[in-house]
Amino acid sequence: MQDEATKAYQSLSGWWSEAGVDVEPLPKLAKGKPSKANKQQSPSQTVPSKPPASKPTASRLKEAAELATTITDLKQLHEAIGNFDAGVLSRTASQAVIARGNAEANVMLIGEAPGNEEDRAGKPFIGAAGQFLDKMFASISLDEESLYITNSVFWRPKANRKPTEEEMQMCLPFVHRHIALIAPKVLVTIGASSSKNLLGVDTGISKLRGKWGQYTIRNPDGSNSETTIPVLPMYHPAFVLRKPVTKRDCWHDLLSLQEMLESLK
Ligand code: URA
Repeated sequence: MQDEATKAYQSLSGWWSEAGVDVEPLPKLAKGKPSKANKQQSPSQTVPSKPPASKPTASRLKEAAELATTITDLKQLHEAIGNFDAGVLSRTASQAVIARGNAEANVMLIGEAPGNEEDRAGKPFIGAAGQFLDKMFASISLDEESLYITNSVFWRPKANRKPTEEEMQMCLPFVHRHIALIAPKVLVTIGASSSKNLLGVDTGISKLRGKWGQYTIRNPDGSNSETTIPVLPMYHPAFVLRKPVTKRDCWHDLLSLQEMLESLK
């Protein structure tokens, strides 16, 4: 019973976190006889407090940070990520999923992590959420030619669990380098994890979305020069699909992006 409830919660919480919603961890259950407290919980509350162990070691974090500084073009970035041992993440995924779209685009979108379909195809945002993402941006005339689409984590976390904080941190040097190599005019962070990760804040997505922030690109030319670009956090398309009432906010954010792009012309 406990196992079934745990599985159900993991599947549900995986969906919600993919949709950009913060999922509250619940206390670990003791093995054996259920405690009184546990008996009072509904099945959907009986969950482990953390996703399955996936612990990049300190040395992996260090290795990623060092490796990222040596990358000077997109080909090297693909090779470095493709060959990187990201621990459980890269061992359980079929392949690294890096990007799709136009590397010369003015707008770079950064989501959370690949899902099942992305893992199979090796391209980000191609499942149902990705197709909706395409529709959202097409509504302001931005298609794959005018967008560059990637994620904060390059491997699919098994069973669509939420990437751990350490996994996000491990990928972050590659993400920073990726942004520096694309050098977009505008960054759009898709969903809670990506927005918090790149803005370095702990605010929920419903408060973050639609409010422009700033991101400083450290240019990868060794010159120590920096460029600051605007960054717009938005809801994750999976969340919008699930909660159509958020479409209005989404539309507002898309118009805001359109205005920003006009002002940067
Ligand atoms: N969700 C994401 O955040 N990224 C993908 O590539 C697919 C689903």
